[in-house]
Amino acid sequence: VNHEKPYEIKDITLATKGQKRIDWAQANMPITVAIGNAFQKTRPFENKHIAICLHVEAKTAVWLGALQKGGATISITGSPGTTQDDTAAALVQNYGVSVFTKNEETYDDHLAHCKSILSFAPDLIADNGADLHHLIYNDPALKPLSKTLLGATEETTTGANRLRDEVGCSDFPTLIINDTQAKRIVENRFGVGSSVVDGIMRATNILLHGKTAVVVGYGYCGSGVAQRLRGMGAHVVVVDNNPLTKLEAHLDGFIVADLETALQTATLCVTVTGHSDVLNAAHFSIMRDGIIVANAGHFASEINEPALDQLATKKQALREHITEYTLADSKKVFLLCNGNPVNLSAGDGNPIEVMDLGLALQAMSLARLAEGKGDLTNIPQCVPEDIENFVVTEALKYWAS
Ligand SMILES: NC(=O)c1ccc[n+]([C@@H]2O[C@H](COP(=O)([O-])OP(=O)(O)OC[C@H]3O[C@@H](n4cnc5c(N)ncnc54)[C@H](O)[C@@H]3O)[C@@H](O)[C@H]2O)c1
Repeated sequence: VNHEKPYEIKDITLATKGQKRIDWAQANMPITVAIGNAFQKTRPFENKHIAICLHVEAKTAVWLGALQKGGATISITGSPGTTQDDTAAALVQNYGVSVFTKNEETYDDHLAHCKSILSFAPDLIADNGADLHHLIYNDPALKPLSKTLLGATEETTTGANRLRDEVGCSDFPTLIINDTQAKRIVENRFGVGSSVVDGIMRATNILLHGKTAVVVGYGYCGSGVAQRLRGMGAHVVVVDNNPLTKLEAHLDGFIVADLETALQTATLCVTVTGHSDVLNAAHFSIMRDGIIVANAGHFASEINEPALDQLATKKQALREHITEYTLADSKKVFLLCNGNPVNLSAGDGNPIEVMDLGLALQAMSLARLAEGKGDLTNIPQCVPEDIENFVVTEALKYWAS
């Protein structure tokens, strides 16, 4: 074990506040709590270390408690702009978790924190966006881990895409939580839909009724965002570069347009595609004066903020989550949360029940990997069907009874 310091967080004195958040989340996470109680008897993670990259917030903390009941020691980092510094403090002080993250951090800081959590020589990793996998397969100092890891999980769409398109994983099994229909439907469609609207409202305090809102990307997340914005009375225009998806949006009753046309009338624009540079200099130049721009995709790079910076003659922070950019023609563009996911940065992330289901999938998947590979092969693959069925049945038991 080669870690120089046991944790790196903003302020340990925030722990009491963080613990209260965790207590509220725990009271609403019966599936994860029940799995933790079962783990206490079976101890799947005895003498095992799990390195985790996932948003450091209250629901995640409840899940870490369940893994600890199964015997795990844990190091964790989060993502830029989404860490709850008080939850991080509670995790260090009350749970003994090695936390390496602060809310205000750059992507380079984040990568350094990923290396810190991997320095604990983990037996298992839980990834979100594939940065841990990327480091393990590409950094020579970390490459030996690929031969010793029992396996990994990957949480999100962007990570799943990167694992299959870029990273080339063949040394250990990675169970992709996002490949389950349970996660796609429950979290991405319903959870992200409501939490993104909540985040925009918290960040701006504006009325959505009557606004023209453009949603760029009509996948599992974007279709949920479009539906919830419509539910709040916005006129929603959908942009997607897949013809079948556009047809689907049209049949769902949305106006479908190309991005350039849509931006001329939009008062709000939300990106949720999983791809970089969706909004760039050409788009900022044609946007309507006063537009509010937010991202809900995994990486802030969906909105090309450096290009916006370059176009701007003036930039100032207004409310906590709003940056005002004034362009050469005096037009104003208001960027929320520096492009970080608006539901996590301005709000509390996805609703607690939704994450209870997703984190239960995570817990069961890690336990399956810890047991030994069984019929799992050394590639990215979906969570085994019996795990998905179990968790969905538990969710029905708690939610629909
Ligand atoms: N904020 C959150 O809490 C949260 C939760 C889950 C997933 N995510 C992230 O949200 C993003 C979207 O996930 P998803 O599950 O909806 O993905 P998805 O693959 O289901 O949908 C993405 C859609 O965007 C479209 N698209 C891609 N590039 C585009 C472009 N340049 N212009 C227009 N349309 C484009 C695709 O055709 C597709 O329909 C990912 O980055 C994912 O990791 C965020």
